[in-house]
Amino acid sequence: MNKKSIGIIGGSGLYELAGNAQEHSVETPYGIAYVFKSTFTGVDVFFLPRHGKSHHLPPHKINFRANIFALKSMGSQCILSTAAVGSLKESFYPGKFGFVGQFIDHTKNRDDTYFENFTEKIQHTDMTSPYDENINKLLIKVFSELQTPFEGPLTMIVTQGPRFESSAEIKAFKMWGAEIVGMTGYPEVALANELGIPFATLAISTNYAAGISDQPLTHEEVVNQMEKSSVLLQNNIMKFIASF
Ligand code: HPA
Repeated sequence: MNKKSIGIIGGSGLYELAGNAQEHSVETPYGIAYVFKSTFTGVDVFFLPRHGKSHHLPPHKINFRANIFALKSMGSQCILSTAAVGSLKESFYPGKFGFVGQFIDHTKNRDDTYFENFTEKIQHTDMTSPYDENINKLLIKVFSELQTPFEGPLTMIVTQGPRFESSAEIKAFKMWGAEIVGMTGYPEVALANELGIPFATLAISTNYAAGISDQPLTHEEVVNQMEKSSVLLQNNIMKFIASF
């Protein structure tokens, strides 16, 4: 039987997974990606901190195409990405975890496809259900076993950033059906679907989105909540890998 392998994309607050990981710089047709390889409970783990090791890349500067391509070319059978998000609904309070069921793309000018021309083949990828049901089921099982409050499926709107949203934008997004808001969940999901690699997103609520709470939103609030959630996040991901 083939060895199991998984790609994990770390968002804000998740810059390292296993201490013994080896860094690889992976050349792709889209540029270089940096991936940390380790083995945990017999599973090969390819960890990619999307903002870089020291969080130097803002959302709009991330090379999403290189990242997804590199994870696939190193042999990841699926990808679990983590995302710090703002919440548009009361029940998804700061500190709570959830899984994503749908996305709404509100980004601009991001390279979001591998299909640059249709000379060889016309390719339109289905996005009806872009998140993998089996990974989501495993997340639900692991979070329930660890008794960690968990919610989903959530609809995520992805904004361009790096600014936060205005309260009017959040009000409009809510009318569209968005329940959480982040800056990096797109185009990762679309690119993974184009490459046919099962993909899921584990969301961590760090704040109520602009105008949902009556306080102005600050970056410190997001960072502080992420720091509080990060040990639990790491533990649950390790348990997820062990159950994979
Ligand atoms: N908006 C966009 N991205 C975010 C937020 C938010 O409120 N919180 C964490 N990432």
